[in-house]
Amino acid sequence: MKALLLNGSPRQGNTCAALEALTKGLEHIQGMEIEEVKAAEVSVGPCIACECCGSSSHCTFDDDTNQIVDAVAAADIIVFATPVYWWGVTAQLKTIIDKFYCQSQTLHDLKKKIGVIVIGEAEQGDAQYEIIPKQFDCICNYLGWEIAFSKTYTAAAPDDLSKSADAMNELESLWKLF
Ligand SMILES: Cc1cc2nc3c(=O)[nH]c(=O)nc-3n(C[C@H](O)[C@H](O)[C@H](O)COP(=O)(O)O)c2cc1C
Repeated sequence: MKALLLNGSPRQGNTCAALEALTKGLEHIQGMEIEEVKAAEVSVGPCIACECCGSSSHCTFDDDTNQIVDAVAAADIIVFATPVYWWGVTAQLKTIIDKFYCQSQTLHDLKKKIGVIVIGEAEQGDAQYEIIPKQFDCICNYLGWEIAFSKTYTAAAPDDLSKSADAMNELESLWKLF
């Protein structure tokens, strides 16, 4: 089994802490291969709607796009983890998601389980914790992927989430939902 963790944060902070806890749990699954892509550390240019991918299913950009979209296609589990930036996912993560377009035919109806982790500074109840999970609901509904969990956390300073034992324990136990 393969798990691909797409980390939308550009800093060593709450999203990294969340994924570290989740990874600890995922390691309980025998034979699980875990790969993390830090969206801020890869080279993926934004989709320019050139439609060159139409016939080839591959992005024409000579960057990390194809390697990452191939990893998305191959993964049994995909976790989207992102800080909230202006009520949305980070630009770095969105840039990768937009590139799913180059394989949107082949990504359809592949059996995948999805986890969503959203971390913002605002208290729970803010609209962002509905807007972002809803976006992933729509994407997964379109692609025929199953959402295993969608979790939102409040954390501001980079070490806030790691200081919450409740959050860390919950994140470490999420593997059971896959
Ligand atoms: C450009 C930018 C935009 C942000 N916009 C929001 C926002 O709309 N809502 C919110 O609750 N927090 C917002 N934040 C705060 C981050 O979501 C928050 O600090 C989060 O914990 C960062 O996660 P990280 O430590 O994994 O990078 C913003 C931060 C930055 C840098």
